[in-house]
Amino acid sequence: MYDTKKALAEYVLPMLRDKKIIGLGTGKTVRKLVEVLQNANLLHNKIIITSSVDTDLLVSRYTQNVLSPLTGAIPEIYIDSFDFFLNSGDEKILVKGGGGALLREKILSFFSTERIFIGEKSKVISKRDVLVPIEIAPFALSFVVSKLRSSGLNPTLRESNGKMGPIVTDNGNVLVDVSVETSNLCALEREIKSIPGVIETGIFCEKLYDMIVIADEGGTIEI
Ligand code: 5RP
Repeated sequence: MYDTKKALAEYVLPMLRDKKIIGLGTGKTVRKLVEVLQNANLLHNKIIITSSVDTDLLVSRYTQNVLSPLTGAIPEIYIDSFDFFLNSGDEKILVKGGGGALLREKILSFFSTERIFIGEKSKVISKRDVLVPIEIAPFALSFVVSKLRSSGLNPTLRESNGKMGPIVTDNGNVLVDVSVETSNLCALEREIKSIPGVIETGIFCEKLYDMIVIADEGGTIEI
């Protein structure tokens, strides 16, 4: 069966060859990229800054060059995937955070020199409702949920499968998901971020990416 994630990883590989400090996102696509990098014998001479404990653990199997962001080293390139790419005329927005790593992913996207997001064509949407994750300080959870409800949104707390209680992010926060219409997502992002206790949302507007690479069995395109 055609492996789209592998094709995407192989597509971006040449862009990583001459880079020393690489930022990596979180999720299955990034895991595939790590595998492809390792098979190409490229991981051992790179310095990696990751967006999650999950990616840290994976990369640490192959190299000890996983760097703390506290060093202030800026990734020359950041590679990640996304849950949805809203591509409707003027609006080109990524929605991320399905894996719960949205805060660190947004921080690395903002501060990295070059930012490339890769994903399957099935993740491209035009206009319909989309599920947006919001990371919230636990202390503020009930207040923020009430505020979101009074704004007409219907948040669902993200809970661990088969266990009681919420999923706790790498930053010690909790997550809710809200289903929203895909118009004016960047304005909605600003509105949600203005609520005290909201740490971050999964809405990534244009200033947070440089290139989006989309693939399916028919081929790969850059946007
Ligand atoms: C994690 C993310 C991921 O990029 C997103 O969920 C896509 O993951 P996958 O590569 O598993 O499809 O935003 O917070």
